[in-house]
Amino acid sequence: MHELEVKIPSVEARSYRISIGNEILGSLWDRIEADYSRLSKFVVTDENLVSAGHLEAFLGRGSVLTFVISPAGETSKNIDTVTSIIEAMEKAYLGRDTLVVALGGGTVGDIAGFAASVFKRGVPIVHVPTTTVAQADSSIGGKTGVDSSISKNAFGAFWHPAAVYIDVAVLTTLDDRQFRAGLVESVKHALIADNEYFDFLQSNIEAVLERKADVLEKMADYNCKIKAGVVEADPTEKNQRRMLNYGHTVGHAVEAASGFELLHGESVAIGIIAAGLIESEMGLSEPGRLDRIRKIFEKIGVPITLPANLAEDNLVDLIKRDKKAVNKWPRFVLISRIGKVYCRDGQWAVEVEQDVVENVLGKF
Ligand code: GLY
Repeated sequence: MHELEVKIPSVEARSYRISIGNEILGSLWDRIEADYSRLSKFVVTDENLVSAGHLEAFLGRGSVLTFVISPAGETSKNIDTVTSIIEAMEKAYLGRDTLVVALGGGTVGDIAGFAASVFKRGVPIVHVPTTTVAQADSSIGGKTGVDSSISKNAFGAFWHPAAVYIDVAVLTTLDDRQFRAGLVESVKHALIADNEYFDFLQSNIEAVLERKADVLEKMADYNCKIKAGVVEADPTEKNQRRMLNYGHTVGHAVEAASGFELLHGESVAIGIIAAGLIESEMGLSEPGRLDRIRKIFEKIGVPITLPANLAEDNLVDLIKRDKKAVNKWPRFVLISRIGKVYCRDGQWAVEVEQDVVENVLGKF
């Protein structure tokens, strides 16, 4: 037997810019054309963005190949949609000198990002996120993927964008339930990383709900700084990036158990309360902390208790199937105070006995 060693030079360090503003959508296309003048453009969006008039506002008089995902939402987040996008790009003779432009919420970003990551072994993408969840979370950090018939994000890749452009004005037309549910990821960012941001959200929650541009811009700024900081430290989620999963272990189980009747953010709100109760069981709570969190979620209008129709044993079964589980039981992200994740032996997600979790699920 002979052996050869292949040395792979480390991937070139790369950075990207996140631009945040109010009412900038109409000026973005010219900027993208100028910044990426040597690349052909291919826009991926969905029918909601078309009917809200955002695609038209974005492109102005520009004319570009556009793939409109229909129906909008999770049901289209599958490999068939990716195949259709790639074949549309091939039919248009697009090559590796193509820039994919994703205009839309988390689903559009995930699908377009994954398509960009595999089209001719990868072409650049820029994101123009248009929902609270996409602006706070999914457009930053390079996670892309689509669902199989068995599980969420079964096909996926880390594919970092070339740039992200956030216009908070597009949030003014977002459906109210979606708007509110997406705010949970902002509360999560405050809880894991920034006490001052939590105070800001608490004091300004009415203005956030009224969708006041200056407050939404400030919120976007906090979110992007927090998320970018975590992603920079651990881009491929070896350890520290797991903190972004705060509330998600129970949250994902709740979302699946509800048959996706509950939105992602609504399920994560319940997951964050469950994490708070686990923290109490493990001696990590502080007086009044969980009440502050419950109050902000009540104001946002997301659930803070488990719906009665979700069976506890089904939730435990789903938690065992968590994609990050090792030996059929996942680790949990917990906080020791607002703005500080509990880190044990250098691990940002820690072991919690199944009994403790079962006890908590039986409690609320
Ligand atoms: N949404 C969690 C992450 O980007 O890691």
